[in-house]
Amino acid sequence: MSEAITDVTARELYDGRGQPTLEACVTMESGATGRAMVPSGASTGRHEAVEVRDGGTRLRGQGVRRAVAAVREILAPRLIGHSALLQADVDAILIAADNTPGHAQLGANSLLAVSLAVAHAAAAHRHVPLWRHFADLAGTLPRLPLPMINLFSGGRHAPGGADLQDYLIVPRGATNLEMAIEMAVNVRLAAADLLRTRKRSTLLADEGGFGPRLTRNSIGFLWSVEAIERAGLVAGADVSLALDVAASQLVRDGQYVLRRPPQTLSTEALTTLVESWVECYPLVSVEDPLDEDDWVGWAHLTARLGSRIQVVGDDLFTTHTGRLQQGVRVGAANAVLVKCNQVGTLSETIGFVQLAKQTGYRTIASARSGETEEHWLADLAVGLGVDQIKIGATRTAERTAKYNQLLRIADELPPNSYAGRLAIDRGPTANGHDGGDVRK
Ligand code: PGA
Ligand code: ZN
Repeated sequence: MSEAITDVTARELYDGRGQPTLEACVTMESGATGRAMVPSGASTGRHEAVEVRDGGTRLRGQGVRRAVAAVREILAPRLIGHSALLQADVDAILIAADNTPGHAQLGANSLLAVSLAVAHAAAAHRHVPLWRHFADLAGTLPRLPLPMINLFSGGRHAPGGADLQDYLIVPRGATNLEMAIEMAVNVRLAAADLLRTRKRSTLLADEGGFGPRLTRNSIGFLWSVEAIERAGLVAGADVSLALDVAASQLVRDGQYVLRRPPQTLSTEALTTLVESWVECYPLVSVEDPLDEDDWVGWAHLTARLGSRIQVVGDDLFTTHTGRLQQGVRVGAANAVLVKCNQVGTLSETIGFVQLAKQTGYRTIASARSGETEEHWLADLAVGLGVDQIKIGATRTAERTAKYNQLLRIADELPPNSYAGRLAIDRGPTANGHDGGDVRK
């Protein structure tokens, strides 16, 4: 059987933060090969699948030799002889081999590296691009996502900076992907000029954006708007703003503790603060505005803001269908972040995206703060036909690898394949959150 897997191996390599990460390599009977590296988060959700690291003193405990051994000794023998074209079967074997909640024994990093390497090999075997293979696996029409691009970072991604983790720009006025990325590049350059004018640091944060010290979190919004205007664009029309609060990182003793300025807030008070930002700035999307386990708070916030902005669950859902079902039940959020390594395998990720689409939630494929130079995330976003993609800044090779791949894929697809502003502007949705175009 030419599509049979004949070899599975792994090695320890390094990601864009200089941390160890895992690469898996798969060979098929036909001679086709595939390999994949996995990313890693910093502001990880409590409900994410487990990333297995070695502990001890070598590489400050971050080594992944245990994961390498898990691939070589436990996963490889179970997969050899199976078809690489049957991704769901492959992933079921991986999940059964671990057989613990959260893939805690072998690690979601081991499972995902192998799952993706199998997909790469299968695409090579079929002589189709990776995005096409993903689309065939999911049964979707390939589509180019609307990018949301990091401009300023704070929180865990830029210690000493703002409390809020991610100030992003959304080039919703662009009519094609090339134009969207060009707008983002121009705004980033304008933001660098703005920082230099104000004698602020232009050193880069984890996702390639700037991580300046801000005395108030609201300055991040003001400077984002100013950068858009300095780039000759209209804030709110050409380019809007998005925000990732990563609120679980702010919780101390059941309250949200902010430092810029110093404030201790209840759920209600933080919801009101977020609402004031929505009223003052051209914000169209807010991610993780509240703690990952505060379903009641999320439901209230979504009822208050969900018709005006996109409310995104990242740590809330951690790419798990069970948590999304809970969200649908209570009316929490109206969009999901999709991160493969929060759940473990490609098939689990596809299942999550399908459920999100069925329930009327917007879908956003997302990189991690610790990324690699690989571009499979761009292929996955196109193949699964998600609405948006969140990669980081248009700077540093582990980020531009994905933007560049999107641009290559854009040349292969028909001109009407770009999701564009419809991917974010609110319309009536299946999950009952009433619609209406975002007015900013
Ligand atoms: P992480 O951050 O990769 O550090 O979890 C990304 C995000 O919160 O969206
Ligand atoms: Zn997030």
